Amino acid sequence: MKYSIKAGSTEKISTDCVVVIVWDKGSLSDEAKLVDSVSNRTISKITRSGDFTGKLGTSQLIHNPAGVLAKRLLLLGGGESKHLTAKNAAKVLRSGLKTINGLNATSVHFALGQISVVGRDTPWLAARLAQEAEESCYRYDETKSKKNKAITVKAISLSPAPGSRRKSLEQALKRGQAIGKGINRARHLGNLPGNICTPSYLASQAQELGKKHGSLTVKILSEKQMKRLGMGSLLSVSAGSAEEAKLIIIEHKGAKASSKPHVLVGKGVTFDTGGISLKPGGAMDEMKFDMCGAASVFGTMAAAAEMKLSINIVGIIAAAENMPGSKATKPGDIVTSMSGKTIEVLNTDAEGRLVLCDALTYAERYKPRSVIDIATLTGAAVATFGSHVNAMLSNNDGLAKSLLDCGEESLDRVWQLPLWEEYQSLLNSNFADIANIGGPRAGTITAACFLSRFTQKYKWAHLDIAGSAWNSGAQKGATGRPVALLLQYLEKQKA
Ligand code: BES
Ligand code: MN
Ligand code: ZN
Repeated sequence: MKYSIKAGSTEKISTDCVVVIVWDKGSLSDEAKLVDSVSNRTISKITRSGDFTGKLGTSQLIHNPAGVLAKRLLLLGGGESKHLTAKNAAKVLRSGLKTINGLNATSVHFALGQISVVGRDTPWLAARLAQEAEESCYRYDETKSKKNKAITVKAISLSPAPGSRRKSLEQALKRGQAIGKGINRARHLGNLPGNICTPSYLASQAQELGKKHGSLTVKILSEKQMKRLGMGSLLSVSAGSAEEAKLIIIEHKGAKASSKPHVLVGKGVTFDTGGISLKPGGAMDEMKFDMCGAASVFGTMAAAAEMKLSINIVGIIAAAENMPGSKATKPGDIVTSMSGKTIEVLNTDAEGRLVLCDALTYAERYKPRSVIDIATLTGAAVATFGSHVNAMLSNNDGLAKSLLDCGEESLDRVWQLPLWEEYQSLLNSNFADIANIGGPRAGTITAACFLSRFTQKYKWAHLDIAGSAWNSGAQKGATGRPVALLLQYLEKQKA
């Protein structure tokens, strides 16, 4: 997709489709007023008829509008006029793009120069348009014999806001496009089935990504190398699988070598059967999404490279398949992690924390400024939050606050749970330093408590994305969250 800023009077823009906003109860935005006045009141006739009222998220298409150069005019309902929130603005754009993608248009112009969004600047709207446009184009068809029809739209333009700098808007479009592409990359890896998207597949995808971007270097650790590092916890998860585990390290160099990096650690369980503590069969297919944390690290690293972020970032992906088998880890088995701590594996289905703890110990070598792990870690997070929010726990209040703010800014929201000392004793074991489960209560918190034992050397936050990473039901598919959140956070950091 090509994005550009196009100035000029709305009715004189040459395009396949021009988009204007109509507010609730038919009140017209400035651009809509202009079009209305040159088109023999085309818009006010429709709103007065009651067929289209400007309700948030609705749209109305008009062909060959009089007095307008564009072939089509698309009215988007913007809801309450003086109060377009960021969330609603994104919703308006999304519904408009959905309609547009169903047309046979190749170019579209968004006449939104006079639209202001509560608490956001005009570059924000430009970036969001490009992000939503990229996301709206994603279609999964890799494993379908009949491929999807390609979307015809090739170019999207936007009117500049009066007084805004063209450069900053163009940059915002680029930024939004990079974010949208990063999200789609994460969605796609998430959607691929477990028999394609194995740890080795993720490793080869990382190598490919490294070849595409000069700022990225990729390192893959084999099981043998991990064994030498003492990663007995991570390796206990892949023990029952024919697929070899991989530790994938993607480094983005955007600042001088001495500048300490921010580290992202992703759970990459490419399929989670539960292992010997086998999961029930219903909806087990969805455990192919158990690598969505890893996928979000992929998407974020790709976008960070594309955006040329001027900081150093390290993405670490702990990739393994959790299977039962004659060599699989059994309940009661005790393994030794890279940190030296011994772990009693009371439930082989609590495998995410087992792969993450060794990756988190590995992260120490970077003397990181901050570490964020991203994991589809607990069913309890789904029970607590449903799908709308990323659960967050942290050992540092400043980092937690920053992620909460970035969640609001990116609309990829976060809510914090307590990581209090009182919960730690639930992980006591009679036979090892720590047990891998904390019983039936407060499951998201005890999982984070487990990880916190391995993150004492740096500022750390844990994102449990079990609820937000994918949708179930008819719309089954990965969401690409929390790529937008992670990029918002990284963009704020200084070298
Ligand atoms: N990948 C699952 C968590 C999960 C389950 C995410 C369902 C989304 C939907 C994780 O590995 C797991 O199985 N967690 C267990 C932990 C328990 C055994 C302490 C869980 O949440 O049931
Ligand atoms: Mn599990
Ligand atoms: Zn899992």
